[in-house]
Order: sequence, then structure tokens, then C-alpha cells
Amino acid sequence: MNITILGCGALGRLFAYFLTKNGNNVQGWLKKDKKGSICINIIHTNNTKDSIILPTNNTLHLNNSNLLIVTLKIGNIIYSLKQIINFINKNCVILLIYNGLGIEKKLLFIKQPLLIGITYHAVYKESETIYHNHKGLTIIGKINSIIKNINYDILIKKLNLALTNVIWYENIYIVKLKKLVVNCVINPLTTIYNCKNGELLKYNKSIFSICKELSSILKYMGIFINTKDLVILVINIINSTKNNISSMLQDIKNNRYSEIDYINGYIIKCARLYNLYVYENIKLLNMIKYKELNVINNN
Ligand code: PAF
Repeated sequence: MNITILGCGALGRLFAYFLTKNGNNVQGWLKKDKKGSICINIIHTNNTKDSIILPTNNTLHLNNSNLLIVTLKIGNIIYSLKQIINFINKNCVILLIYNGLGIEKKLLFIKQPLLIGITYHAVYKESETIYHNHKGLTIIGKINSIIKNINYDILIKKLNLALTNVIWYENIYIVKLKKLVVNCVINPLTTIYNCKNGELLKYNKSIFSICKELSSILKYMGIFINTKDLVILVINIINSTKNNISSMLQDIKNNRYSEIDYINGYIIKCARLYNLYVYENIKLLNMIKYKELNVINNN
């Protein structure tokens, strides 16, 4: 497959690495329109190292891509896609993989077949090296029905060969909400306590209170999952990604705005619609906003 990856952060590089190794023709697409290449250095889950060279920003490659994988931060997706949408052919499948929710209604300008993916791969980037900490499940589903005759089975099989554990799921919104809940707990707490995911097990009281609140709001959003099951879900992800630095903590450490508005902020907006007050989520949002203030002041 000819693939372009828009967004070459930790996850984009991880996917680019595995898809290249699996024999696909992959390029990265960087914000600074620089035709050239980047080096991907990876430390695998078993501590072995490898490197590949990834070509970047070749418009012909973009034009001939059968698959565009977008691994940008949620807040950058719409703007960056609009910059390149005219160079993407109408049959190219666009796969968006992002944390958080809230931009879905703004994606209508996309006339290509559009998929959403949720991944539990855990990876972080330090200087030019990515550390792959957990080979997690990736779940993909479609959010528009443009070009109905695409054989998604073949696409999923190909992705599965490269990325391991890729599955198709019809009701992708439910999967997205479950991942949102996980991110609502792990991402702000790791950022507030400045710790790796695994260290969160010490804060089980906070995990319980946040999950309790999330369980009650989820009912209104169509998901019935009790507090105990939500805690189990979160604890399982904490355990399987224990050596990871959450994406929110990576953002703050790197002096970037976080995705808090699309994670806990999304829950707060939904709660308002139902006249509910989500104390725990508001508290987390305010604490992260405070950290962001420090980031901006430092610049
Ligand atoms: O955002 C993240 O960091 C990841 O979604 C997860 C699963 C919390 C692992 O760190």
C-alpha cells in the first residue's frame, strides 16, 4: 500500500515504522512543508533498538496514497487536513487516530472514505527516539459511508499484519467513548502527579471518584457501565501501559497545550447539556489549565 502519515509524533512514527517494515511504501507529512526525510529510532517493548529513514512531504506520494493515517493532536486535525485535502485522491481512505472527542461534526468537508481508529499502543518520544511500551489493540470503524464498495476486510488484514491486533468494529462511537473515559482518568492524573502511568495505582481513591462520576454521565450518553467495571477497565490499561508517559504529560513536559478541552472538557460540555455538575472533571480540567498557564509563561 502507498501510505502517508500526517503527524509524525510518537504514535505517527510508531505506525510509520511498523508499516514500512511490513513492506508498505510509507512517507510522513510534516507541518513544515519540507520534502526530505526523518530518522525514526525505536526502542522496542523487548528493549532492542532499530532505526529507519522515513521520506517526507512528497506531493506525488501523497497524491498516490491509498491510505492517509492522521495521528495529529485532535486540535490540529481540521486545519492540517484542510491544507492538504486537495492533494488527496478521492479513493484514498482517511484513517483518523486521536484521543478525545468533539471535532466529528466538523469533518463533513472530507469527501473521501473516513475511518476512526482507537489504539491502545503505548509509546512516548524523547528527543528523536520513540519508546514502544505496549503492543495494544487498535479498533477501527467508519464514520462516513462515502464509496460503499471498499473492502475494509483487506485493509484491516493488511494493517493487522503490520501493527498486530487490529480489528473492525461497527459501533465505533462506543469504543471511542470508552477510550475517552480511560484518558479522562490516566492523562490528567499522570500530568498532575508528574508520573508514569503505572504509578497511578497509588491514587486509587481519586481513580474511584472520577470513575464514579464518569459512570453516571455515560448513562446519559448511551453507555451503561458501572463504576466497578470502569475502575477495572482503567486499572487494566494502567497496568498494561505502566512504563508509559501519557500523551498529556508528554505535551506539558514539551511546553505544548494539552488535549484537556477534548477529553475532560468534552465530558463537562456533555454534562452541561444534561444539567449535571461534574465536579471531579472540572477540578481536573482546572488543574491542567493551571499547568498550561505555567507552560505558556515559560515561553
Ligand atoms: O494518551 C495516552 O497516553 C494513551 O491513550 C494511554 C492509553 C493513556 C497510554 O498512555
